[in-house]
Amino acid sequence: MNFKIVKISTYTLLLTLFSMFMTNLKTNPKIQSMDNNIAQKVDSLLRIMTIEEKVGQMNLYNGFWDATGPVPEGGDAKTKYEHLRKGWVGGMLNVKGVNNVRGVQRIAVEESRLGIPLIIGFDVIHGYKTISPIPLAEAASWDLKAIEQSARISAVEASASGINWTFAPMVDISRDPRWGRVMEGAGEDPFLGSRIAQARVKGFQGEDLSKPNTIAACAKHFAAYGFAEAGREYNTVDMSNAKLFNTVLPPFKAAADAGVRTFMNSFNDLNGIPVSGSKFLQRDILKGKWNFNGFVVSDWASINEIIYWGHAKNKKEAAFIASRAGSDMDMEGHVYVQELAELVKSGEVDEAIIDEAAGRILRVKFELGLFDDPYKYCNEDREKNLIGQKSHHEAVLDMAKKSIVLLKNENNILPLKKEGQKIALIGPLANDKNSPLGSWRLASEDHTAVSILEGMNAYTKNKLSYAKGIDLFEGQVAFTTHIKINTDNKNGIEDAINIAKDADVVVMVLGEHGFQSGEARSRTKLDLPGLQQQLLEAVYNVNKNIVLVLQNGRPLTIEWAAEHIPAIVEGWQLGSQTGNAIAQVLYGDYNPSGKLPMTFPRNVGQIPIYYNHKNTGRATNREGNVFWSHYIDKENSPLYPFGHGLSYTTFEYTNLKVNTSDYSKKGKVAISVDITNSGQRQGREVVQLYIRDKVASIVRPVKELKGFELVELDVNESKAVSFHLTENELGFYNNDGAYILEPGNFEVFVGGSSSAKLKSEFSL
Ligand code: BGC
Repeated sequence: MNFKIVKISTYTLLLTLFSMFMTNLKTNPKIQSMDNNIAQKVDSLLRIMTIEEKVGQMNLYNGFWDATGPVPEGGDAKTKYEHLRKGWVGGMLNVKGVNNVRGVQRIAVEESRLGIPLIIGFDVIHGYKTISPIPLAEAASWDLKAIEQSARISAVEASASGINWTFAPMVDISRDPRWGRVMEGAGEDPFLGSRIAQARVKGFQGEDLSKPNTIAACAKHFAAYGFAEAGREYNTVDMSNAKLFNTVLPPFKAAADAGVRTFMNSFNDLNGIPVSGSKFLQRDILKGKWNFNGFVVSDWASINEIIYWGHAKNKKEAAFIASRAGSDMDMEGHVYVQELAELVKSGEVDEAIIDEAAGRILRVKFELGLFDDPYKYCNEDREKNLIGQKSHHEAVLDMAKKSIVLLKNENNILPLKKEGQKIALIGPLANDKNSPLGSWRLASEDHTAVSILEGMNAYTKNKLSYAKGIDLFEGQVAFTTHIKINTDNKNGIEDAINIAKDADVVVMVLGEHGFQSGEARSRTKLDLPGLQQQLLEAVYNVNKNIVLVLQNGRPLTIEWAAEHIPAIVEGWQLGSQTGNAIAQVLYGDYNPSGKLPMTFPRNVGQIPIYYNHKNTGRATNREGNVFWSHYIDKENSPLYPFGHGLSYTTFEYTNLKVNTSDYSKKGKVAISVDITNSGQRQGREVVQLYIRDKVASIVRPVKELKGFELVELDVNESKAVSFHLTENELGFYNNDGAYILEPGNFEVFVGGSSSAKLKSEFSL
């Protein structure tokens, strides 16, 4: 054990005063005593820290790659080394690998006065080295167990690499596919989003945060980032409290309830207040109403951005505003470390604010077990053996298959036959081993996904010919730079036409490159980028038997394809095992079961388009004139609704029953429905339940998802599925942020998508 650690525990023994700020004691006596214990330790530690050291805990630095090597001359890295030695750094991000993590940890633990260990953060968003499907794709599985397992695997790999904190899950609800970050969330629905948020938190954090294979999760971006105006990244957000509480906050609340240890705030403003400086969100709601006792980290330099928003004059004022508003940790902004100690000394910021923030951060470090062993996550054997292991690849393959959504399948063109079919595979993305890794794959190796070409070749005795058709992009691609899309070189189209001509079926893989969605990837057009539409139509002219496999990080506007192409498979970016997953679905060894977590618009002009919209006062064309809520050039309906997804079999829903008799006693409305597999194959269906509150003091949506259940059915098999609606599902938030339950009439719909027609009613 390190001597500095001994020093802390000696102080801990000497100082026994109880914490005054850790108030969220649980009812379980064991947990309560653990909480008390940590609170005491934190309190004891704070008492021996200087103001600079406490502010230091609030300082999160980005890494540098020579952590174990010589100090570079001048510049940032030198300052960071000095600050580490002084104990002015609470954590680091983007330091990965046991060797590097040990390097920075050693400086903090062995060279600083108190030896307080660092928390080590990283964007483990969809896998660490073994890459799982992008989060939006995983959401399409509606499979909470699989999603939890996927996060678990990420945590095992990341923690084996020295990391103990992930900046995930992103739980931002968004209704705007122009916003590139929809790939990172769970889509448009607060109910589904909440369940998925909880599954991911559980997966990352496990049952016991102090185990070496669990990591602290971070619910981000708090809040309303997904409503950036016009879908433009980092843009402004203005919304009512009712929308904030009913649509944006539920997944954050769910993450908090699941015990998420950290929150990250966001780059946007909310109703004029840059969120990093929002007391309303961070203190009043999160730490107040929700009693959250972990810590809040800023987004990357977002405290500095309070200045650029025009809400603070300078860094000093930004530090003043953000710390008082409840932003506990400054990510790579250097604002707190430069300004906060002085602000306390001059009396402008109360030291209690610093104690509270540093205390929250120290608490999470205690929970992670870092004070018992700061090198807990630094073990070469674990790093060597756990990362990229076979079982992880099997699990991400399973996740990938479950994430695929069959959008259309006319005349049962799918599944393909395993033998005796001549298949032409066309499209630049079919032979791409890099794009399927998606946007947030910081720890993976480029070009390591199984491509669709590889997956299909390995899978079948069919004669498979391949032509790329066109190049999707020119030059290099990277996380930090724009991709240059090819818009003029059509050289390969002839080859594609030639192989398509005499094929029985053409499989075309088209869509976005993995680096066309994600952070800072907003688009104003959502069609197939570059020359892909042209390629699709050229091939269609010679062979109409096309299966279109989409690769994308967001809903696309594919109206032409939806009209002309007989089969469309939503294949997202599915991570390391992409090609194998797609091949298994196309050949029918996995019967697709995914359902869209986000509406597909017909065109960009319909955006924002989402299933849980309000009715308006003029929803139908009652009088045959123009004066109703519609467009003159396009229908209101989406191309594919939320919850949509087909199977190679069919399901029938019957016998919907609602029973309110228990409501007065047990507070439950019981709903049941029968579902039958009426097709020719075994299959898996996501049974979805929606309600509509007909009359309310705040207008309610035409439909709201309030339950779902995954059901596996053999051919001709039937099952009864039941749901319970309680006050948690039947009420809503008003504009004061108060949750209210109003008596009245409700409709209930059950089916396989948000356009479910099977309906019943009940009154409370
Ligand atoms: C993103 C966050 C991310 C952070 C650290 C920011 O630009 O908005 O989601 O966690 O960078 O990499």
